[in-house]
Amino acid sequence: MTKNIGVLISGTGTNLQSIIDKKSKGVLSANIAVVISNNENAYGLIIAKNKNIPTHVVPHKDFTTREEHEKKIIDILKGYNVDLVVLAGYMRILTKFFISHYPEKIINIHPALLPSFRGVDAQRQAVEYGVKISGATVHFVDEKVDHGPIIIQGAVPVSPQDKRDDLAQRILNIEHRILPQAIQWICEGRIKIQGTKVILINKNKPKADIKDIMPCLINPQLEEGF
Ligand code: GRF
Repeated sequence: MTKNIGVLISGTGTNLQSIIDKKSKGVLSANIAVVISNNENAYGLIIAKNKNIPTHVVPHKDFTTREEHEKKIIDILKGYNVDLVVLAGYMRILTKFFISHYPEKIINIHPALLPSFRGVDAQRQAVEYGVKISGATVHFVDEKVDHGPIIIQGAVPVSPQDKRDDLAQRILNIEHRILPQAIQWICEGRIKIQGTKVILINKNKPKADIKDIMPCLINPQLEEGF
């Protein structure tokens, strides 16, 4: 049965675009039921509207508490029978109130190899620290920030000459591959959470071509089409 996903955004929406692209390509079976932004100027809203995907803007500044803001978003998600909430560049921290409505059904894309560089501007943190490898993580959201069981990660090299935006683009190319893949694995029922670990079932499917984003290391490996 096709799962309905609700995508939460705050900005440019390139991860939303990658989800839309994989669906158009026929490798992502989820139904993008609704896109919700806390930022009325998020370009991702235009991306969604261009594909006739329902959109809602719920500005956090219109609410006195986080919970009231989240309640409005939850009501919208429930209205679209959303099975999986995807945080795709969503810049608000969710409270346990929100998470309690979607236990183990919220995933996030973070532009670093968690648990390294949690929080904002992880790309800058990595460049300034001087790491030699960074990357991106898709994980289930729990009550701590940028925490929760990890589904898939992709690693990329970092050079001392890299500026923040050089690394951000290199990581974004990975994000756009691993987020749709994680969504599809969940839609296929192939993701099991065991404590703090995530197990992918049936890993022997044909693998993807990743020449365009090399050098990188992605684990579990991307499957054909992602
Ligand atoms: C991305 O780097 C993502 O990892 C972070 O927000 C940035 C913008 O994402 N969470 P998008 O272009 O809005 O999808």
